[in-house]
Amino acid sequence: MTRRKVLVTGAAGGMGRACARLFGATHDLVLTDASARLTLVAEELEADAYTVRAARTGDLGDTALLDALVADLGSGEPVTILHTAGLSPSQADWRSILSVNLVATEKLLAAVEPILAPGSVVVAIASTAGHVPIEIPGTADLLKAPLDTAFLDTIGAIIEAAAGGNAAGASGLAYLLSKRAVLRLVERKAVAWGAKGARIVSISPGLILTPMGRQEVEQTPGAAETRDAAPAGRPGTAMDIALAARFLASDSATFITGTDLRVDGGTTAAMLSMAG
Ligand SMILES: NC(=O)c1ccc[n+]([C@@H]2O[C@H](COP(=O)([O-])OP(=O)(O)OC[C@H]3O[C@@H](n4cnc5c(N)ncnc54)[C@H](O)[C@@H]3O)[C@@H](O)[C@H]2O)c1
Repeated sequence: MTRRKVLVTGAAGGMGRACARLFGATHDLVLTDASARLTLVAEELEADAYTVRAARTGDLGDTALLDALVADLGSGEPVTILHTAGLSPSQADWRSILSVNLVATEKLLAAVEPILAPGSVVVAIASTAGHVPIEIPGTADLLKAPLDTAFLDTIGAIIEAAAGGNAAGASGLAYLLSKRAVLRLVERKAVAWGAKGARIVSISPGLILTPMGRQEVEQTPGAAETRDAAPAGRPGTAMDIALAARFLASDSATFITGTDLRVDGGTTAAMLSMAG
């Protein structure tokens, strides 16, 4: 029997591994990640009788890698794409954050677009940071065209000026802007893909205890307080995100497209209500 294929980006990371385990029970897996840990993840899954059609290590912004992943997915059948690859403020500088979280996301969506048969679904992981209402003048239009050759240099100059030369501040602003841009990108693609019968949604996680989330708790002021303040009364897990992705990718969600689901234990609601 043929099963639907699912592409998981960031498959060696916390959310990616959870998504691979959950979706791999019902789908054939195409996995990718920049980290060499991906080989171990794929071996573990295969040892547990999951079907891994491909496990490709590389930078998601690399065109040759994207072409290979598209070939792995094939054409003519609906596919599911779970895009979890990303970098957080404590992991990288502003340029890498924008390159991975936004530029590579735009490239991934452009690469898969031609093979999206009716019923295909993309779930992109954004962040509650994308909902933070900080305005940085001059960025809104730039963020709509991240594949322009001057994009990184132009927006980087604005970010560095806004951060006053503080590298950590610039990383934080780049993260916020990259995730906000993903929310808008999902809206635009949903409109463009409606006629194809393909859907796209995003999930905005709050603080989730993955390797990235733990690093944020250790290194970013305020992150531990965010973890502890969730009205849900517990920290978020990678499987919380995978379960939300499973619902959004399922036949129970065929009227849901072009929108974002906050999976944050109520943290954003708590912050909004405190702000009045
Ligand atoms: N963990 C959190 O608290 C949290 C909160 C909000 C949003 N997010 C978002 O959720 C997503 C998944 O995060 P996670 O917590 O699983 O993090 P993680 O660090 O555990 O996993 C992310 C994976 O992305 C991979 N990656 C990084 N750069 C890449 C590149 N250029 N090409 C291919 N792969 C690359 C990493 O190797 C890593 O395996 C990210 O987009 C992140 O921004 C996480």
